[in-house]
Amino acid sequence: MEPVNLSEFKALARTKMAAMAYDYYAGGADDELTLNDNRAAFERLKLAYRVLVDVRSRDTSVHLLGHRLSSPVIVAPTAFHQLADEQGEVATVRAAGSAGTLMVLSTLSNRPVEEVTRAATGPVWFQLYVYRDRGSSEALIRRVEAAGCTAIMLTVDAPILGHREQDVRNRFHLPEGLAAANLYGDEEGKVARRAGDSGLAAWVGETLDPGLTWKDVEWLRGVTDLPVLIKGIVRPDDAARALEHGASGLVVSNHGGRQLDTAPATIEALPAIAEELELRGAGDDFALLLDGGVRRGTDVVKAVALGAKAVLIGRPVLWGLAAEGQRGVETVLAMLNAEIDTAMALCGAPTVVELSRDLVI
Ligand code: GLV
Repeated sequence: MEPVNLSEFKALARTKMAAMAYDYYAGGADDELTLNDNRAAFERLKLAYRVLVDVRSRDTSVHLLGHRLSSPVIVAPTAFHQLADEQGEVATVRAAGSAGTLMVLSTLSNRPVEEVTRAATGPVWFQLYVYRDRGSSEALIRRVEAAGCTAIMLTVDAPILGHREQDVRNRFHLPEGLAAANLYGDEEGKVARRAGDSGLAAWVGETLDPGLTWKDVEWLRGVTDLPVLIKGIVRPDDAARALEHGASGLVVSNHGGRQLDTAPATIEALPAIAEELELRGAGDDFALLLDGGVRRGTDVVKAVALGAKAVLIGRPVLWGLAAEGQRGVETVLAMLNAEIDTAMALCGAPTVVELSRDLVI
């Protein structure tokens, strides 16, 4: 059966994927309480719609750090797209471009950043994991700049990898022929099978720097002129620090429930963060974003009403990719945009700026 919503793509994708890959995408940390609560928290919120507003003409578009996007939905950074589709991130970036939005490419992509930006028809941002070896990180940043990425999104909620039991059970690893292509060449980019552990957790433990601090945000801003966004914040005081350290934006995120289980649902963390940023004078162009559990147009409307400029979707893009390649991702993005348009019409908010706090109960 053809999926008619994002969740149905998940079921379809499952029929097309190896169990190890499906479990890696679908899973969360420990008891998956945060994973599930990200969704449940959206479901708890109600939309108090306005009536008798002329909504004949509607506009879902937004501006984000100099880019005009068709809707407040961007493609989240997620790892290893060739686990879903042979074309991998190249298919995803083409779909993002044809949907009029931007893609955030993961450090842990299977296709190298240069190939992805070459295939892109829209903007590409780069999600950065910082290596223990800063020289390698700097070299990667130079490649990212030369490839034409227009912002860097630094992930800060993963000093080590969360405990994902499915991946431990499956001994998660990259199949023969796949590598983390942005890293130091094919050999070192291999995420291999490890006895008794997730191969990714072991690899992250050896390769990425758990000693990252706010000083490294300054280091990053010193080595690149690209705008820097910080991903993985759930506290107002950390949001204030991100602003102080010159971030151009941040993502309220708990890594899709894959890191610290029992972290708060992102849509519940958002209002206090939005308030803190406003108090601290974050300008209107500060990119306050959110991810985690976004599956419906009404979710996007709630997030924007509560202060987000846009949201990121991760897993649904992977489900679309696994189900039907580039076309599947295009369908996922088109479905969500259509739902946003419907929700805005029914809320009496024909433009995104009219999505105000009072709509959400
Ligand atoms: C990588 O960032 C992951 O969450 O697996």
